[in-house]
Amino acid sequence: MTPVEQVQTILNSITDDSLGGSANGVAYQDYPWHPFDAIPAAFRTTQRKLDIIKRVVRLKEKTVLDFGCANGAVTIGLALEGAKVYGVDVEPAQLGAGRIVARSLGVDVQFSTQASLAHCDAIIYLSVWKWTVRHQGRKVADAQLRRLSESCDVLLFDAGVGDCGTDLGVGLKVSEVPTLVLRATPMANIAKAGAFVDNNNIPRTIWKCLRQS
Ligand SMILES: C[S@@+](CC[C@H](N)C(=O)[O-])C[C@H]1O[C@@H](n2cnc3c(N)ncnc32)[C@H](O)[C@@H]1O
Repeated sequence: MTPVEQVQTILNSITDDSLGGSANGVAYQDYPWHPFDAIPAAFRTTQRKLDIIKRVVRLKEKTVLDFGCANGAVTIGLALEGAKVYGVDVEPAQLGAGRIVARSLGVDVQFSTQASLAHCDAIIYLSVWKWTVRHQGRKVADAQLRRLSESCDVLLFDAGVGDCGTDLGVGLKVSEVPTLVLRATPMANIAKAGAFVDNNNIPRTIWKCLRQS
């Protein structure tokens, strides 16, 4: 089997997308690198996210954790920029797909179901908080946000909400994210890193959160 076929076989085996990954043969995020760019994806926003991250965080030789990395597309993109990257997700099959793509592109990414790092330079935490709220409640989601914030100097956070009603009933507006971060975490400074429009035409914001003001 070619690496693309191997990835496709794994994606075909995923049937449960209830935690926010994708299923039934579709990658969560596109792999915008040939030949993996041909794989069907729920979202084709990997490059948009990477462009924002690259603009606001120095990546070369930095230690970066991508928490809730799904099929590892953003994770691999960070590694291609020279970061030492760890991708964590609760869904092992998603990580298996990421491993094949990373190996094939010749980049070193540590994919795992558990975050074992004590501290890293940056944590990428995109569109996971909302799903944790949905499945485990607000208290658990805020505790996860706090724990990640305590483990890095810079947190890039997308709460996963848009202000137009497709936020899974989470009940948080984009404009309320700074208050959430400043209340729930030791972060002292939060600013918009950038925005992108997702495949559903929902404007999404990535926030840069810093320990120091
Ligand atoms: C909506 S996707 C976001 C993927 C990626 N961060 C991105 O924006 O491209 C959410 C991912 O978070 C993962 N996830 C949900 N709860 C998690 C948890 N407690 N720990 C680690 N991963 C989790 C899901 O399995 C899913 O792959």
